[in-house]
Amino acid sequence: MAQRPYIVGNWKMHGTRAMLSEARAIDRAAQRHMKVEVAIAPPFTLIHPVHREAEQIGVGAQDCHHEAEGAFTGDISAAMIADAGAKFVILGHSERREAHGETDALVRAKAETALAAGLRIILCCGESAKTRDSGKAVAFVRKQLKASLPEPDQAFEDASERITVAYEPIWAIGSGNAATIADIVEMHAAIRALLIDLYGEEQGSEVRILYGGSVKPENASEILTAPEVGGALVGGASLTADSFMGIALAAAVETEDS
Ligand code: PGA
Repeated sequence: MAQRPYIVGNWKMHGTRAMLSEARAIDRAAQRHMKVEVAIAPPFTLIHPVHREAEQIGVGAQDCHHEAEGAFTGDISAAMIADAGAKFVILGHSERREAHGETDALVRAKAETALAAGLRIILCCGESAKTRDSGKAVAFVRKQLKASLPEPDQAFEDASERITVAYEPIWAIGSGNAATIADIVEMHAAIRALLIDLYGEEQGSEVRILYGGSVKPENASEILTAPEVGGALVGGASLTADSFMGIALAAAVETEDS
């Protein structure tokens, strides 16, 4: 059965308690669009407050440590974010891969730890401008994803429920220029084929593949109706209820039309 479109806001390092009113507004608006799954990943410090306020939207984190616990000053474990109310965690975002040197192997270890803690995961992948220009984007993303996703036997039987992939070309993030629909369609088809290879037809064909990188209300409809696009991972445009719900509304309209 096809899953609902999934619209996820990644607040990155934005938001103090003053932003809770925005989360409340997103939650209220999401109650009017039940055919769309809406979630936000605020900074760690807002997970619990948003969880307490939210009646409809899902709440998640933007990262977690790859070990279950231990002497890791300043780090946060999967169990801690789950305890704070998170139901999912974004892993392998390019900003973490670049600024924190996260390798594919580390991202995979985090994914397996997060799944073991009962969380769902949104695993990010995406190529740089240089890789795209060299014509190797699809091969790069396939390799990156294959090495970052949990091993099939670690993904449990419900991979399609617990795992979401987000394709986010690095050059499109925060640039105002989303990838072209043709590029999105080509990449999502390649990711779908990989997911079926890894997790089998039944699970692999149902894992949602989100697109991320300069998604906004104005381009959401076109992106969300492209083949194999199961939703969007939204950065800048998720910081206000107005723009974020404009994207969710585009997803809702498409669901009603289909
Ligand atoms: P953007 O960020 O929507 O601001 O481009 C997307 C992301 O980094 O997840």
